[in-house]
Amino acid sequence: MTAQDFILKTYTTNIESGSVKWASPSNIALVKYWGKKEHQIPENPSISFTLSDCKTITEVTYTKKESNGFSFEIFFEGKKNEAFKPKIQTFFERIETYMPFLKDYHFKIDTSNTFPHSSGIASSASGMSAIALCLMSIEQELTQTVIEKSHFNKKASFLARLGSGSACRSIEGELVVWGKNESTESSDLYGVKFEGDVHTNFKNYQDTILLVDKGEKQVSSTVGHKLMFGHPFAKERFAQAHTNLAELKTILASGDLKRFIEIVESEALTLHAMMMTSMPYFILMKPNTLEIINKIWAFRAATKSNVCFTLDAGANVHVLYPHNEKETVLKFIKNDLAIYCQNEHYICDQIGLGAALIKN
Ligand code: PMV
Repeated sequence: MTAQDFILKTYTTNIESGSVKWASPSNIALVKYWGKKEHQIPENPSISFTLSDCKTITEVTYTKKESNGFSFEIFFEGKKNEAFKPKIQTFFERIETYMPFLKDYHFKIDTSNTFPHSSGIASSASGMSAIALCLMSIEQELTQTVIEKSHFNKKASFLARLGSGSACRSIEGELVVWGKNESTESSDLYGVKFEGDVHTNFKNYQDTILLVDKGEKQVSSTVGHKLMFGHPFAKERFAQAHTNLAELKTILASGDLKRFIEIVESEALTLHAMMMTSMPYFILMKPNTLEIINKIWAFRAATKSNVCFTLDAGANVHVLYPHNEKETVLKFIKNDLAIYCQNEHYICDQIGLGAALIKN
C-alpha cells in the first residue's frame, strides 16, 4: 500500500451535521521508536502493548459550512481549550489530502482523558488516535458506504501517525508493530496488529505506571527525534531495533520471560542512552527513577519474580509483570515503590484490545 491509496476521492456533502465518538487507548513500546524521517516515517521498527484503561474519549460534532479554510474548536474536559489548537491545525494540514471534506465542515472536538491531565503520561498517542478514528467514522458517513474494517483501521492508523508517530499503534490491540522489518508483517505508513503466536505468559500482562514526575516533558518528542540526526550511534541503534524485534517475536511465542525482561529493559535504557549521548544531551530520568529501577532489580533477585520496567522519554516508570504475579507485585509497589512517586501516585493498567466506538 502507498499513501495514495488513502486519498478519499468521492463523497457527499449533502449531510448537514452529525456526531461520532471513540475511546482510544495509550500504548507502551517494548522496542522503541526513536528517530524519524520526513512525514513521520520511523527510522526503525517498534512494537508496543496497547493499554486498556489509559484512554482518551473524543466526540467530534461536524456541521456543514460555506467558507474556505479549516474551522474547528476544541473542548478539553468540558472547557474550551486554545492551547491544543496549533497541534490540530498542523494535523489537519497534514491529512487534508486524504480527507478533502475537512474544509467543508466545522468541527467541534470534545475530548477528555481517563488519566489525570498533569500526570506526565503522554496523551498524544491516545488523543491523536481518538481524533483519527472519529474522522474515519465521519468519512464513512460521507461516503455512505461501509468501509471494510481492515481499511478503516489502516487509514485511522495512517492518519494518527501523521498526528503523532506512536499514535498509529493505538488503534488495535494487544500488540502492534509499526515500521518495515523482515521478521513481521508491517508498514512504515501505519501500525499492524501483531499476528505472531503469543504465549499465555503474556496474556493480560500488567502495566503499573509510577508517576515520578508529573510535570511537562523536559524534551518534546519532536525535539527528541531530531537528536537522532547525525547521532554518533544512530546507525547501530536502528539496526539493534530490528534485531530486538526479531528476537522478541520468538520470545512472545516461547514465553521466555527472562529474555523478555532483558530485551525490554535494555530497550528502555538504550532510549535514554541515546538522549544522554546526543548533542545537546539530556538526562530524562530523575533520582527516583533510578531508585525504582534498583528496587525492581533487588526484588527480582530476591523473589525470582518476573517483574521488569520500561520507560518513555521521561522520568515515569512503567512496571510490567505477568498477570499471575499481580497480587505480589502490587504489594511490592504499594509498600516499596509508591514512596518514589509524586504524591505516591501510580496508575494500574494492563494490556488492552484497542479502540472502541462509542457513538456513530
Ligand atoms: O510518538 P512520539 O513522536 O511522541 O514519540 C514517542 C516515542 C517514545 O514514546 C519514546 C517511544 C515509542 O515507541 O513510543
